[in-house]
Amino acid sequence: MIDFAPAERGHNGRVALVTGAARGIGLGIAAWLISEQWQVVLTDLDRVRGPKVAQALGENALFIAMDVADEAQVAAGVAQVLGQFGRLDALVCNAAIADPHNTTLESLDIAHWNRIMAVNLGGPMLLAKHCAPYLRARCGAIVNLTSTRARQSEPDTEAYAASKGGLVALTHALAISLGPEIRVNAVSPGWIDTRDAAVRRAEPLSDSDHAQHPTGRVGTVEDVAGMVAWLLSRQAGFVTGQEFVVDGGMSRKMIYQP
Ligand SMILES: NC(=O)c1ccc[n+]([C@@H]2O[C@H](COP(=O)([O-])OP(=O)(O)OC[C@H]3O[C@@H](n4cnc5c(N)ncnc54)[C@H](O)[C@@H]3O)[C@@H](O)[C@H]2O)c1
Repeated sequence: MIDFAPAERGHNGRVALVTGAARGIGLGIAAWLISEQWQVVLTDLDRVRGPKVAQALGENALFIAMDVADEAQVAAGVAQVLGQFGRLDALVCNAAIADPHNTTLESLDIAHWNRIMAVNLGGPMLLAKHCAPYLRARCGAIVNLTSTRARQSEPDTEAYAASKGGLVALTHALAISLGPEIRVNAVSPGWIDTRDAAVRRAEPLSDSDHAQHPTGRVGTVEDVAGMVAWLLSRQAGFVTGQEFVVDGGMSRKMIYQP
């Protein structure tokens, strides 16, 4: 049922929308999909970096500014994608307020809590709502970027952890509502080093940062992007409603001190 149009002008005919793609994991996902010949619409709040990175990615990338928490902006952005390409095959909900730390619970401001929920959880709902008719027409797929923090915590991370736990639940709810035409899955990264190459060289992570991971290293944006690309592919055609953890095995490790 998945449509693979013949490649035209250096692309495979399929169109993906990636939110929060001006930097970090979202940019890595956009670049990976373009390397697989997708046409990719990068969206972000950041109107300065967004157009620059889209231009650097070449002719198969387009930037549209969008606050994922604002339904009017989401609706207008999705309409622009359809106007430009006439189709949508994949949605990657990556945009988030990604700093997991809030204040102590006693001083946690409800306005801050509400904004985290609106962006990290409301955003993917709004994107799914407005993209669903077009994804259904192409038997497309959605991937939501969740987090291992949906299931384990450090102190003072209530808002982020709750938003990501909600997104894991939203993922399986959408999979049941939108199937069989649309598959919906979640990818939960662990520690991913999203810093620019120059910063990584200037301030390298420590040996113990890497060694504590069962894989012997901290993750890269490519580790996440490869999983997202697979979930959007024909090979994942029997996979929906699931959460895939990409954390170098950290969430499977006993941490009792010897
Ligand atoms: N980096 C990690 O270690 C890690 C671990 C687990 C989960 N994640 C998740 O992966 C995703 C990407 O993380 P990252 O580290 O690349 O984050 P990042 O902060 O580097 O990038 C997030 C992007 O989202 C954009 N954004 C924020 N609010 C937005 C809004 N309202 N509308 C549109 N765009 C908005 C930002 O401008 C930014 O470009 C997030 O969902 C994050 O929660 C990251």
